Amino acid sequence: MFAAPLRSLVRSPAQQRLRRAFSVAAPVSSTAGGIPVDVYNPNGGKRVVVTKPLPGDRWLEVLTSSGNRVEVCALKGDEDTILSEAKIATLIGDKCDGMIGQLTENWNDALFAKLKASGCCAFSNYAVGYNNVDVDAATKHGIPVGNTPGVLTETTAEIGAALTLAAARRIVEADTFMRAEKYLGWLPTLFVGQLLQGGTVGIIGAGRIGQAYARMMIEGHKMNVVYYDLAPQPAFEKYVSDYADLLEKHGEARVTCTRASTIEELLPQCDVVSLHTVYNAETKHLINAARLSLMKPTSVLVNTARGPVVDEVALVAHLQKNPTFQAALDVFEDEPAMKPGLKECPNSVLVPHIASASLYTRGGMATLAACNVAARLRGDPTWPTPENAKPFLEGPVTGIPAMSPSIVNAKALGIA
Ligand SMILES: NC(=O)c1ccc[n+]([C@@H]2O[C@H](COP(=O)([O-])OP(=O)(O)OC[C@H]3O[C@@H](n4cnc5c(N)ncnc54)[C@H](O)[C@@H]3O)[C@@H](O)[C@H]2O)c1
Repeated sequence: MFAAPLRSLVRSPAQQRLRRAFSVAAPVSSTAGGIPVDVYNPNGGKRVVVTKPLPGDRWLEVLTSSGNRVEVCALKGDEDTILSEAKIATLIGDKCDGMIGQLTENWNDALFAKLKASGCCAFSNYAVGYNNVDVDAATKHGIPVGNTPGVLTETTAEIGAALTLAAARRIVEADTFMRAEKYLGWLPTLFVGQLLQGGTVGIIGAGRIGQAYARMMIEGHKMNVVYYDLAPQPAFEKYVSDYADLLEKHGEARVTCTRASTIEELLPQCDVVSLHTVYNAETKHLINAARLSLMKPTSVLVNTARGPVVDEVALVAHLQKNPTFQAALDVFEDEPAMKPGLKECPNSVLVPHIASASLYTRGGMATLAACNVAARLRGDPTWPTPENAKPFLEGPVTGIPAMSPSIVNAKALGIA
């Protein structure tokens, strides 16, 4: 699925020199339980299985330079876009020391039991979110679970901003119209949308990505912000207040930042509402029919968090009833499927879960996942500040800290 250019993600001249100095040998084609795999460093001592090809070379350097044999599933074809549990179990086989899995895969108790039986002591999800992983089961089997924070924030926030603009200014509808050669001349009423400048943006879940997105809307469009989060975010509020001081100094109107005490209080105030919470039992259908009805009829709802945070059936009904309401979605409740009627709604912008799909981020996620596994296979400890991923992403591979960047059950396993 990843095109050849993704293999060269290095950016700075120093990194380019490094890449020339260390090139990963081409893989050897083989099979694992009958499933085709690309094998890197075939003579490596420990076997690391990766369920999908990953972008860039650095992650392969990390694993192979620590003496591991890396087997990347080479199944192609639509039916294998998301690997079945049976195929993952086959790939694990009798001996699997380390594993890198995808957010589309259901890493349940059965798979962790299989990993344990195969001698595995290191698993990493190729994602920051890990709602697809039964962490309790992994902990029960003594398997560390890695994730990849610190490299997705700005990239995901940028998609949130892009979706917001596309929906507010009806870019996709207008593009479709143009390609259909329906444009007969400028009209005062053609694709009139909503101005963001000076409006109010609501952030539900003001964590790393929520705050980065909010800053883009505040600084780019001078929007006021209302946020709802379980915890107050004083540093964020101070940032907005300092920015408001700067605007005032330059003769512009101040922007404001307020914390709403309920979602019900936030929704009616906002021209745009963007979702950035984690996904768990509490946030399932956080946006439902009742809450949609509290939003302005001209507002934009953006979801780059997880699909089930929105009741998608209720959203379709709301879009159908309110043609001036816009939804912009990167994630879907029954991903990869859409609820009936959604794709027919012209007031929706729909993209296939590409929020983290920048070259920088996808290559960085691969490096962090590989570092999680390589360090655990060596018995190295866990990096204490997972947000600060830079030391793993920059400079020569030999200079990478001998630590796992982020293990979510490190404390429970006593490897923090
Ligand atoms: N679409 C994508 O490709 C993509 C990429 C990266 C992350 N994500 C999603 O974005 C989410 C947020 O990522 P992040 O790095 O900002 O995480 P984060 O942990 O920094 O922020 C999540 C915020 O949600 C808040 N929160 C939790 N439960 C809540 C609730 N019930 N109501 C309101 N707020 C609540 C938390 O307090 C926290 O501030 C991830 O969990 C992931 O699912 C999606």
